Amino acid sequence: MRTRPLKVALLGCGVVGSEVARIMTTHADDLTARIGAPVELAGVAVRRPSKVREGIDPALVTTDATALLKRGDIDVVIEVIGGIEPARTLITTAFENGASVVSANKALLAQDGAALHAAAEQHGLDLYYEAAVAGAIPLVRPMRESLAGDKINRVMGIVNGTTNFILDKMDSTGAGYQEALDEATALGYAEADPTADVEGYDAAAKAAILAGIAFHTRVRLDDVYREGMTEVSASDFASAKRMGCTIKLLAILERAADGESVTARVHPAMIPLTHPLASVREAYNAVFVEAEAAGRLMFYGPGAGGSPTASAVLGDLVAVCRNKLAEATGPGESAYTQLPVSPMGDVVTRYHISLDVADKPGVLAQVATTFAEHGVSIDTVRQQGKDGEASLVVVTHRAPDAALSGTVEALRKLDTVRGVASIMRVEGE
Ligand code: HSE
Repeated sequence: MRTRPLKVALLGCGVVGSEVARIMTTHADDLTARIGAPVELAGVAVRRPSKVREGIDPALVTTDATALLKRGDIDVVIEVIGGIEPARTLITTAFENGASVVSANKALLAQDGAALHAAAEQHGLDLYYEAAVAGAIPLVRPMRESLAGDKINRVMGIVNGTTNFILDKMDSTGAGYQEALDEATALGYAEADPTADVEGYDAAAKAAILAGIAFHTRVRLDDVYREGMTEVSASDFASAKRMGCTIKLLAILERAADGESVTARVHPAMIPLTHPLASVREAYNAVFVEAEAAGRLMFYGPGAGGSPTASAVLGDLVAVCRNKLAEATGPGESAYTQLPVSPMGDVVTRYHISLDVADKPGVLAQVATTFAEHGVSIDTVRQQGKDGEASLVVVTHRAPDAALSGTVEALRKLDTVRGVASIMRVEGE
């Protein structure tokens, strides 16, 4: 057992950082035994040093993160600041000064993962980021390491707890979006500005990271098709129920049937109640991975929060420290397949479309012809009429998204179609 401690710099001491520091202190003996050397919190960089941080020696607290990293004796940097800058510059500085990095920063990894991996490799250091995707759920390392010998063809997941909480409330209580969002805010699940969650940006960043790992190719945030869930209504849930489905905000990553490209997308979708993801309630996350040899795997657990996220950070810390002692590094970026990311129009999926139409002869035929003209095959049609108007619900067979959206565009132009009440993709069948 080495007695000289490995020195750790903590960048950021908010909800996650303070929990990381607490566990490092309270579990110090166990961490030492598991790593094979003591780990010492050598400095904590914060923006507001006056804020009381229980259990952290005030002498360790600094506002000068750069000076902390340039001390020359830091072995591992834990970055839990979030956002692009100053996190990106600080991580680069950490590598330049010989420290491996553990980061929880999904936005930065989704945008600049390739450059950060290259910097880590150039300096012979580690970049680990289990906490960046789905909080406590072991997912990044199982996909990078345990499944490294398999071929992942599809990943479908609920990777945002806030939106899952809102959608679950809408499903179980019949509430509308705003009412469910208000409850999520009151309970602390949604932030005062919920845009990143409800518009799908948070999930899209996680989708980009997972797609890169799953398909051994580079997928950036801009490559991920994204639709938020603010338009999902109580009547969408009523329609979903009639089909034996619920609605989830899903991140879906797929290898094309010919294996020559991949797609990455985030949008709300109906999924059958029999699908394992349908039973993921409240703010939980779950990711369903389909691999050639392993078959179907489901990873489930708390996807956010100080303590669960700290668990993932500490797991990475132990791994990175072990690598340091062995004078080795763990897996770096694997992007050798260089598969292109296809646009959303190439995705093959099903649509559930609700139309308000005139209830008169020939309308159904006109609607059916529009689908046929775009090469989209109809699976089921349900019509409910009232006072010369009717609501028509069409569920299609699988077709390219471009053909489906072209159909909807053409339907909107028909005189007999008063409006397109809702469009929802159907997944997981
Ligand atoms: N805001 C995210 C969520 C957690 O609701 O799942 C951090 O990614």
